[in-house]
Amino acid sequence: MIEHDAIYKLLAPAKNETWLEILPQQISKAFNFSVHGTSAKWQILIENLDLPLPSQSNFNNDCIQIGLAKDISSERQLQLRNELMEFHPWRKGPYDLFGIPIDSEWRSDWKWQRLKDHISSLKNRLVLDVGCGNGYHCWRILGAGAKAVIGVDPTLINVMQFQLIKKLSGEFPVHLLPITLEAIPSEIKLFDSVFSMGVLYHRRSPIDHLLELKNTLRAGGELILETLIVDGNLGETMLPEGRYAKMRNVWFLPSCKTLVSWMARCGFKNIRIVDINQTSIKEQRSTEWMRFHSLEQFLDADDKNLTCEGLPAPKRVIIVADAF
Ligand SMILES: C[S@@+](CC[C@H](N)C(=O)[O-])C[C@H]1O[C@@H](n2cnc3c(N)ncnc32)[C@H](O)[C@@H]1O
Repeated sequence: MIEHDAIYKLLAPAKNETWLEILPQQISKAFNFSVHGTSAKWQILIENLDLPLPSQSNFNNDCIQIGLAKDISSERQLQLRNELMEFHPWRKGPYDLFGIPIDSEWRSDWKWQRLKDHISSLKNRLVLDVGCGNGYHCWRILGAGAKAVIGVDPTLINVMQFQLIKKLSGEFPVHLLPITLEAIPSEIKLFDSVFSMGVLYHRRSPIDHLLELKNTLRAGGELILETLIVDGNLGETMLPEGRYAKMRNVWFLPSCKTLVSWMARCGFKNIRIVDINQTSIKEQRSTEWMRFHSLEQFLDADDKNLTCEGLPAPKRVIIVADAF
């Protein structure tokens, strides 16, 4: 499933060659299906997909489109819809796969719209997307002209959704490795642009996360960082005592000024805040393709500016910075 040769070719110029040595082991460890019955089922579904190559694909639209309804019979389309549903919950999207619209929990296209005019041109760049989910933004990055995109994400449902989409799309230089950022050896200094969106607040050490991101960038490369923040002055940071918007694994939510100072301390230059946005219940919501509770249920019933725990409601910043 993973196109090892293509990936090794992309990674070969990395400063730290040991990654190529340990990568096969990292990948096979992640795909140890015997420990997870559902993943074996997903794997079989993907292997058995027998669809024609799409007559048309478009990665530049808000909705990533692969194939047209007319490429397959209506019976096959119905069957494909059921197969896609087996990969519930679809958190990132939207996608349109052979005429089947996948209305995911998140309108991931809104985040893309907020950042796309503020970053360096992605034309011919080698790009890393850390915590890429099912790869929605990887396809948008490719659509914007990147030479190749490597996403990393340790969550198996995301990896499986990506592999399914990749199988439908045919060959494109987009790859998802089932690993964490921390599993990438330090000092590879390879990528022209690195995205880390929605990951920093999941890390117990945000400073280490920033340093690890910097280590993946070549000199002069660009970081696009998106994370949860709180209102406040330099030095202020919120560390939730328990859950945050029902999420268990949320650690540091800095103020913008604090985050910028962390980035400067880690050696980033030319640090620009390009967007601040409070997440709305139109951007993150339950749909037919994500039938669990979503943001609306995670907010205070009477005050949408508070989470159900009484903390400030989710607000996100996008920061662009250069590595040297
Ligand atoms: C909130 S989602 C964000 C997805 C996507 N980047 C976006 O902005 O829509 C965070 C993702 O980061 C992944 N993740 C968590 N810890 C990670 C780590 N240490 N390294 C890489 N990915 C991680 C999770 O599996 C999850 O898919």
